[in-house]
Amino acid sequence: MLHSAVLNVMIKAAHRAGRSLKRDLGEVEHLQVSVKGPRNFVCAADHRAEAIVREELAKARPDYGFLGEEGGAHPGTDKTHRWIVDPLDGTTNFLHGIPHFGVAIALERNGTVVAGLVYNPANDEMFIAERGKGAFLNDRRIRVAARGRLADAIVACGLPHYGRGDLALARNEIAAAQRAFAGLRRYGAAALDLAWVAAGRLDAYWERDLSPWDLAAGSLLVREAGGFVSDLDGGDAIMQKGNIVAGNETMHRELLRLLQEAETAAGKEAAASTAP
Ligand code: IPD
Ligand code: CA
Ligand code: CA
Repeated sequence: MLHSAVLNVMIKAAHRAGRSLKRDLGEVEHLQVSVKGPRNFVCAADHRAEAIVREELAKARPDYGFLGEEGGAHPGTDKTHRWIVDPLDGTTNFLHGIPHFGVAIALERNGTVVAGLVYNPANDEMFIAERGKGAFLNDRRIRVAARGRLADAIVACGLPHYGRGDLALARNEIAAAQRAFAGLRRYGAAALDLAWVAAGRLDAYWERDLSPWDLAAGSLLVREAGGFVSDLDGGDAIMQKGNIVAGNETMHRELLRLLQEAETAAGKEAAASTAP
């Protein structure tokens, strides 16, 4: 398949970073049994991957701005373009030797994401999309699942963990989803969750407390696969608010409704428990 020049640049960067991560995953597997564990090593692997992506992208587009999870923001002289990069999404999986993690690269033009890529080096799955041109997995067109019955649907989510997030709210949301859907999943790599919604593997997905690099590439993949994406208020401020609901039209609408009801109920419960 012929790709645009910009996608070629992104694919090359993801392949190079992916090779580095895959090599490092082998070492991580050995380090599980060491007393110190693989944490420092993984941190270095993460930085190495971002340096590779940044170097490749800058070689081809030296003027573009760059926002990376590890190195932060680097404004470019071209103020209209910015790369948004998560060099290793699914760090906790990687740390445990679980081969479910990805490199996520998005290109923003005047504040709109126009190209997105999510690559899982462990199984060599490359998800790509360009605005208005559809979404692809290893060069084959992908579309969101057509399922319309909630009782048949598999839905992925994030879970607040280790001192993060609102546990009471999450419990309400999860209970609502458990009552409505066939199954819930927590895979641990937000960019891949979105790519899997785009590929029709998952029917829907939601998560809170995310960052632009978790969301930029994957949200374009879902839209280009014919899906719907919004923040949890039903608006378009996904990257500003750091939360997301995604799915086909029915799943997106129904999941959003369930989550909003769960949030209202959690608010009432919190108010009741603090009332004198
Ligand atoms: C994380 C993963 C995870 C999500 C976290 C993210 P990281 O990204 O996407 O699935 O639940 O909240 O921060 O830290 O592995 O790049
Ligand atoms: Ca991430
Ligand atoms: Ca990361």
